[in-house]
Amino acid sequence: MTKRDFITAEEYGADAVDRILDLAVKVKQGKVLGGLERKVMANVFLDPSLRTRTSFETAMFLHGGHAVVLEPGRSSWTWETESGAVMDKDTVEHIREAAAVLGRYADVVGIRSFPRGSDWNVAREDHIVRDFARFCEKPVVNLESARRHPCQQLADTLTLREKLGDTKGKRFVLLWSWHPKPLPTAVPASAALAAAHNGMEIVIARPEGYELDPEDTALIRKITQERGGGFVHIMDDPDEAMASADAVYVKSWGSLKYFGHPEEEKAHRAGLRDWRMTEQRLRSTRGGKAAVMHCLPVRRNVEIDDAVLDGPSSAVIDEAENRLHVQRALLLDMIGKL
Ligand code: CP
Repeated sequence: MTKRDFITAEEYGADAVDRILDLAVKVKQGKVLGGLERKVMANVFLDPSLRTRTSFETAMFLHGGHAVVLEPGRSSWTWETESGAVMDKDTVEHIREAAAVLGRYADVVGIRSFPRGSDWNVAREDHIVRDFARFCEKPVVNLESARRHPCQQLADTLTLREKLGDTKGKRFVLLWSWHPKPLPTAVPASAALAAAHNGMEIVIARPEGYELDPEDTALIRKITQERGGGFVHIMDDPDEAMASADAVYVKSWGSLKYFGHPEEEKAHRAGLRDWRMTEQRLRSTRGGKAAVMHCLPVRRNVEIDDAVLDGPSSAVIDEAENRLHVQRALLLDMIGKL
């Protein structure tokens, strides 16, 4: 039987996503016990994490299984990820052997690898996560790659449903925010795909030069149409974007034009500090109370003001909690004994 990786929610399938979300609701209500007894998850973090790491470890424990965490270059050998590399420098273990060995020990394996290098045309292929899945005989979960954060996407899809009820036709605004560093586009692309899957109308508000990868934008448009959400509007005015918003997803991301050139990018974004979620902008949303979302970690008073994060519209903690429930459901779907 061929294994089924969870690299993107779209590849896993729209019906499967809805099945997982239905199960997540039952899991959250305490109606699903066990199902992962004697199962092991090995998670590899090539980049840091609070939520992803803790929620997967907790998920495995709660259902009777066990999680192992590896941090190559810290508590385990430094990895080489390039095919054909002559490993005579700092890297000790090739991803080929690492993935194959972990696949022999664990029932499911997760990997986080943010974009690397200075060429977006290379990074956008997500070759580390995809190579890892190719070399591993067990199902692989993408814990955030250059292009996608599918576990965050599941949590965001569920959170939108919880906060808005029937999401069909409601307005989702993806609001770019200033940040001192250029961040990956995986979360904003995944968040917009969550809204698209929920049949929402989508507004992407970003300054000129901060377009998402064109293939991701095309996919967001396609799914929005297929799922009855109507239109995807692209705007460059954060105030105008707030009108009639039912949910505002605040997120910073780097300009792909300057990918791998952070100093040049920094100069480009220098005048954009006003791009942040304020109380005034919240007042312009539908009824002044759109759900304000962010994947976390968030830079307070840089991306979102204290008054918004600490106010009744903030959904960020519920969103983070939902990471746990959707991942419990995902693991049960992938390797569970229900
Ligand atoms: N949202 C999210 O993935 O958080 P971590 O980076 O802390 O895992």
